[in-house]
Amino acid sequence: MKTIFQKDLWSISSFFENKNYSFNKNEILSSLSKNDIDEAFLIISNWKGYLPTPLIELSKLSKELNLNKIFYKDESKRFNLKSFKALGGAYAVEKVTKGNKDIVVSTATAGNHGRSVAWGARRLGLKCKIFISEYVSDARGQAMSDLGADVIKVKGNYEKSLVKCIKQSKENNWQIVQDVAWNDYMVVPKYTMAGYTVMMKEIVNQLKSDKITHIILQAGVGGMAGAMVAGIARYLENVPEIVVVEPDSAACVMESIKTGKIEKIDIKRESLMGGMSCGEVSLVPWAILKNSVKFCISLPDDNIAKTMKLLGNSSFSDEKIIAGENSAPGVISLITACLDDKIKETLKLNSKSNILVIGCEGDTDKEMYQKLINQ
Ligand SMILES: Cc1ncc(COP(=O)(O)O)c(C=O)c1O
Repeated sequence: MKTIFQKDLWSISSFFENKNYSFNKNEILSSLSKNDIDEAFLIISNWKGYLPTPLIELSKLSKELNLNKIFYKDESKRFNLKSFKALGGAYAVEKVTKGNKDIVVSTATAGNHGRSVAWGARRLGLKCKIFISEYVSDARGQAMSDLGADVIKVKGNYEKSLVKCIKQSKENNWQIVQDVAWNDYMVVPKYTMAGYTVMMKEIVNQLKSDKITHIILQAGVGGMAGAMVAGIARYLENVPEIVVVEPDSAACVMESIKTGKIEKIDIKRESLMGGMSCGEVSLVPWAILKNSVKFCISLPDDNIAKTMKLLGNSSFSDEKIIAGENSAPGVISLITACLDDKIKETLKLNSKSNILVIGCEGDTDKEMYQKLINQ
């Protein structure tokens, strides 16, 4: 029988080692401070319904790849919103409005961030305006309407929806809660990242005596990856090997690390990994990621559906895991790296390695999830 762990069945597009790598704790925590991180945990862990999401061992996969342990942070269970994004937008809504019910919040989104903002607004009884591009699925739009937001569909792509959001927000005095930073808009994106660091605090509590040797972080604009690196600087004694993974059509962090400055990618084809299909790294995460990321991987969409299915039918772990499109790349990178002697050696992956991968989302778009796992 052909096993699923064959070299020709797994692939990445490129692998890059950052020769300028240096992990400077103080520098990282000057972008996202210890106070920002601690305050986010204090506030979010007191929200009604808060529970740490599971940290699942992919014990079947670690055995197969001859690694010590693989930990999968399962964000499909986050506040019924099914993604880590629930921690960011909703927290930023609370921080910027301080619960003032006269403030209307707004955002532009590809889906999960907007859902978090809408949910955060509903928690506090605020009005919420969400701008989505025509390419955002009806199911995702509906999920935000169901949370009480006014959802406004804009012709064109995400950029167009953001331009419209900024224009209308200025005209109507709405408070924009965006997860992407630009030159004079850094504070709110910083709050979203502070919210994401809750994942790292939970992981540290869940690990007990195990020490993480490697962490693989997905990146779109880099907010989640930057937050997790800041979480490492805040909470971990031993710094693991940090790997960032992106779609090959939108590897903006990798290309920027290669040249040492922010490079804009002209996205020619939208990746299946929708939340990660971003052409430009955001400013706050860039300050954190540019030196602290040691390795970058980009990959095609090819193995996404297969990996979602394998996670879902408990091929990798004792329990079934509902993993959305953006949850698969960490596992794909790890399997591919272990099947390639050179990459495996460069990454120092061996039988003592404990790898952390982030299952960023569950079936945030149910229809799409079913379609992919049934392919
Ligand atoms: C659902 C989802 N959206 C977005 C992202 C990207 O996050 P960011 O744009 O903060 O890098 C991810 C994972 O990386 C994701 O799983």
